[in-house]
Amino acid sequence: MSAPAHLENDTLLRALARQPTPYTPVWLMRQAGRYLPEYNATRARAGDFLTLAKTPALATEVTLQPLERFPLDAAILFSDILTVPDAMGLGLAFAAGEGPRFARPVRDEAAIAKLAVPDPARELRYVLDAVREIRKALRGRVPLIGFSGSPYTLACYMVEGSGSSDWQTLKTMLYARPDLAHRILALNARAVTDYLNAQIEAGAQAVMIFDTWGGTLSHEGYETFSLGYTRRVIAALRKEADGYPVPCILFTKGGGQWLEAMAASGADALGLDWTTDPRSARRRVGAQVALQGNLDPMALLAPPEAVRREARKVLDAFGPGAGHVFNLGHGISQYTAPEAVAELVDEVRTYSARMRTSSGP
Ligand code: CP3
Repeated sequence: MSAPAHLENDTLLRALARQPTPYTPVWLMRQAGRYLPEYNATRARAGDFLTLAKTPALATEVTLQPLERFPLDAAILFSDILTVPDAMGLGLAFAAGEGPRFARPVRDEAAIAKLAVPDPARELRYVLDAVREIRKALRGRVPLIGFSGSPYTLACYMVEGSGSSDWQTLKTMLYARPDLAHRILALNARAVTDYLNAQIEAGAQAVMIFDTWGGTLSHEGYETFSLGYTRRVIAALRKEADGYPVPCILFTKGGGQWLEAMAASGADALGLDWTTDPRSARRRVGAQVALQGNLDPMALLAPPEAVRREARKVLDAFGPGAGHVFNLGHGISQYTAPEAVAELVDEVRTYSARMRTSSGP
């Protein structure tokens, strides 16, 4: 029950534990990213995105950049979900102006037979070094969130070889050769478990599982190919470190119709995208989990008054009760003005504090 005394600001961990907080904690998916000029400068110094992510000193620098600008209540490890398949030997590259691409996608029996669970202490050592260095640099200001892709979302990129609007190659495999898909997913579940536990051992104080593409599955497919494997991961996660609980946040983009199942997955909190109604989400999951979200990232492209109004709407919809972490419904757009984030964070802080002292929403 007790909140981590080693943190100056433990509002995130309290909210994830559904304990009362003086205001609603806020952090933003992709808070360290291209909308910040200082991020672009560090990335230019690194040469490219992957070198930035693989150099712990630079990853630490960009992780802290948004915290220097805005009074955010959490840091999130600067890395990428695709480091895991990269460590499996698939050959990750980010071509300039394009998304991620794998040189060796996994599409047949022979390629699957060669897959092995990476040892995080060896192949992903740079991530663990970054976690340790970020914890040191944070000096207990706010908690550090570690993360991984879900087994299914990683499989999307591993089989397709890149991003896709319809995941045709992977979807074909799910229906034509489900046995092959299940072998990849079982391996990914082990890889994600080891990776997240290694991050927790290195100092991550909460973890988030990004199931970015789970929402593209059929109703039955979501349980079979995504949630079933995520559940295995959550069941095998370290639940505490240094005597403090390490909460797990599960985010399935487009997962609004499966909240009851997600809430029963063992996750401590669910991330909601902006299409989900927070009021009905709270009714459906009850007190089982905390909720995180869910401002449409595009709202940040509007003028300050609109940003503040939309932030208040989200806060009103979640209500003054315990167990809400303010976030966007997906990653921040690179076209966001940093000033809009300043407005947003300020409105969340002041309005949510006021909500708690007034008689009700
Ligand atoms: O939230 C944070 O600040 C932590 C950093 C973080 C990044 N990627 C940095 C990044 C996190 C948590 C991710 C997760 C990630 N990566 C996801 C799941 C989250 C989501 O968005 O749903 C996915 C699907 C990826 C894969 C990925 N990485 C893609 C598709 C791309 C290219 C698309 C794009 O936005 O350009 C990336 C690159 C990437 N990862 C960038 C950043 C800041 C931009 C790269 C750059 O600097 O050029």
